[in-house]
Amino acid sequence: MDYIAKTTTIDKEATGCVIVGIFKPKRLSDSAKKLDKLYHGIISKICQRGAMNGSLGRVTTLYNPSRSKHDCIVLVGCGKQDDFTISAFQRALSAAAIEVNKSNVSSAINCLIELPVKDADLLGKVQASVLSIENSIYRYSETKPKAARNKSRLKKMKFLAHTRDDLTDIHEGQEFGQAIASGMNLAKELGNLPGNICTPTYLAEQAKTLAKGNRKIRVTVVEEAQMKKLGMGALLSVSNGSVEPAKLVSIEYNGDEPGERPIVLVGKGITFDTGGISIKPGASMDEMKFDMCGAASVLGTMKACSELDLPLNVVGVIACAENMPGGRATKPGDVVTTMSGQTVEILNTDAEGRLVLCDALTYIDKFKPEAVIDIATLTGACVVALGHIPSGLMSNDDELAKELIAAGQLAGDRTWQLPLWDDYQSSLDSNFADIANIGGRWGGTITAACFLARFTKKYRWAHLDIAGVAWHSSGKQKGATGRPVPLLTEYLLHQAYEF
Ligand code: BES
Ligand code: MN
Ligand code: ZN
Repeated sequence: MDYIAKTTTIDKEATGCVIVGIFKPKRLSDSAKKLDKLYHGIISKICQRGAMNGSLGRVTTLYNPSRSKHDCIVLVGCGKQDDFTISAFQRALSAAAIEVNKSNVSSAINCLIELPVKDADLLGKVQASVLSIENSIYRYSETKPKAARNKSRLKKMKFLAHTRDDLTDIHEGQEFGQAIASGMNLAKELGNLPGNICTPTYLAEQAKTLAKGNRKIRVTVVEEAQMKKLGMGALLSVSNGSVEPAKLVSIEYNGDEPGERPIVLVGKGITFDTGGISIKPGASMDEMKFDMCGAASVLGTMKACSELDLPLNVVGVIACAENMPGGRATKPGDVVTTMSGQTVEILNTDAEGRLVLCDALTYIDKFKPEAVIDIATLTGACVVALGHIPSGLMSNDDELAKELIAAGQLAGDRTWQLPLWDDYQSSLDSNFADIANIGGRWGGTITAACFLARFTKKYRWAHLDIAGVAWHSSGKQKGATGRPVPLLTEYLLHQAYEF
């Protein structure tokens, strides 16, 4: 997709399709007014008749038979102007993006960035626009027949600027948006690939591909033999039942001075989660190919970082394994020793994410992290608690939590904090080891984080449970979302440029 920014107004600019906003009740935006004048009041007529009332996310397309200047006009409802926050803006954008794709044009002008959005500046509005258009044109195709690959025709998106200063902001918003989108696309593609292709070995190869031809990225892979030497009994216990060897992959991005402490991202990379001996029920088990979406988001974010050439040191670590039952599989009641020295009684082999993560979180101490964020499709309980809107956030550092919440808000990739109080810790007590790998029935998202907290005492750490947001479960939408690449990249942008 090409993005173009120009200082002009809509009545002077010819294109395939124009996207303009309508607020509730039936209030035309500036560009909508200009077009209304140009086309003899057609837009106000449509509003009067009630075909467009300005309700948030509602869309109507006018096709212009005379083909003068604009092939079609997409009217987008934006809700009440007073309620027009970045999340409302995003909803309007994605409704518009879907509609523009339907009209099958090859170029469009996005006039929505002229609208006043409560908590976003021009740069943020452009970034969000690029993200939503890129989201709407992504198609999974890798394992589909050629004939079924329906590519979007949309090739060009224009933004109109009032002033030259605006142009600078628009260019920057485009650049940020495109880098984030390219990271999201990688995360989606890896998430969508089936478990028989996207194995731990495959993910390690993908990491190496990122490093190819990039002097700022270095990739190292810890193999099972070395994991044994390092004492990673928890990570190894997960891949025991599988013929696919586990891989612990580090991607070091050096954008800053070598001595500067890095931000470390740690992703759960279970390439398929059957549950192991504590096997899952059959219904929807295919969705457990998405259990590596945390790792995919780390790879995606590393990609975005390097495309943005961020002046920051970042290390991405992905803990990859396949969780299978089998003759050598870990059994409920087995006790393993983690790299930290703490022993774990594995009461449920389906609580495997925390087992791969705990050794990864101990391992990464060697990078002397400035802050650590782990990203994991960790608990079904998180989906029960928060649904599919925000990810769950837990942290041992309130400042870090605040920064992540703010980044998520700005990037339209929200997260919601849950308490990580010590009061929950006792649910992990075990009679046979230092700690059990499951808590009781309640507060499963928090007790999972409490487990991880035992391994993250040496640094500032936050945990993102993305079980509810990493993929859509059904219908045409079924597939990976690429979240939380926007949140993570936004956070890193702020760390790099201190804004
Ligand atoms: N990968 C799952 C979590 C999950 C389940 C994410 C469904 C999204 C949808 C994780 O490994 C798991 O199985 N967690 C268990 C933990 C339990 C055994 C304590 C769960 O949530 O049921
Ligand atoms: Mn599991
Ligand atoms: Zn899992």
